[in-house]
Amino acid sequence: MELKTEIKPKDKCGKLPADESTLGFGVIFTDHMFSMSYSESKAKERDKGWHDAKIGPYGPISLDPAAIVFHYGQEVFEGMKAYRWKNDDIYLFRPMKNLERMLASAERMVMQPFAAPFVLEAIKELVKIEKDWVPKSPMTSLYIRPTYIGTKAILGVQPSSEYLFYVILSPVGAYYATGFNPVKILVEEKFVRASPGGVGFTKAGGNYAASLLAAKKAKERGYTQVLWLDAAEHKYVEEVGTMNQFFVIGDTILTAPLTGSILPGVTRDSIIHMAKDYGYKVEERLVSIDEVITASENGTLTEAFGTGTAAVVTPVGELCYKDKCMVINDGKVGKITQRLYDDLVAIQYGEKKDPYDWLVKVC
Ligand code: COI
Repeated sequence: MELKTEIKPKDKCGKLPADESTLGFGVIFTDHMFSMSYSESKAKERDKGWHDAKIGPYGPISLDPAAIVFHYGQEVFEGMKAYRWKNDDIYLFRPMKNLERMLASAERMVMQPFAAPFVLEAIKELVKIEKDWVPKSPMTSLYIRPTYIGTKAILGVQPSSEYLFYVILSPVGAYYATGFNPVKILVEEKFVRASPGGVGFTKAGGNYAASLLAAKKAKERGYTQVLWLDAAEHKYVEEVGTMNQFFVIGDTILTAPLTGSILPGVTRDSIIHMAKDYGYKVEERLVSIDEVITASENGTLTEAFGTGTAAVVTPVGELCYKDKCMVINDGKVGKITQRLYDDLVAIQYGEKKDPYDWLVKVC
């Protein structure tokens, strides 16, 4: 498929705010977007399969009000970032891993597969066009949001026969307004995020919609996000709203296994790799909330942190469950958390050699 490009006149383009510390997360968007469409229809031979791949001006999309995405939520998305190095080179971090995860999400949602290498080239081209939008201040990056929706106008519940895939870009700062500082997390007692056999491992918009009520209630009580427990027993820790969760208990770094109800995070995978390389003992296994409480009480719970593309590595300073509040490492950033954060960020921003071949150059 050919990739067409239509560039906006320079005088119609926006630019980064002069003060990059005001960026926030996902608030402003760049001038161009990538899109491509899919149709099963044989009526228009030209439009069969994936077609109309283009980079054009960012702007509203027009969809039929009956489009499947609005009614039955056939939608998946991704999140990755482009980083500006000191020498102004721009790199992506493990983008293929995100696109592979998107294909797995799409398969679960009975959406058409797409050619990930083609999409990666389109993303590189888009980021290259928007390179002036990649911020340069510490903790900033260009967030990349591939989005994939069922667009067929039909009210029968079924997989769509038409799709729109698009990628938008947003220059961002830290996901949490607090930056790299410990957050307060509430362990959710009543609501669940995902159940066995469900769609917890996908990056489906519906997973996030379903999390909003618990997150809202937690926020009202002063917590940043919730930590979900498993749906079957309400016993095992799964993940936090926008990040995978890790604990350091004794000499071991623990995180929940990929049993299908949590997101297989790209940052999670990277941190596990790095931690093992540093010689830490890492276990992906079921961790009960009781085990965490016991470890907190006997002093062996020394650190907790979350990982995610948006969240990077976020220290957890306080974890509350029912009437128990555990302050972790005196509410300060732990040594292991700090080391993993520093090194991951140093790799992403080209300040440390990338021994894993995780970086992909854009320009
Ligand atoms: C990400 O980390 O990229 C996410 O998608 C989390 C989020 C902002 C929904």
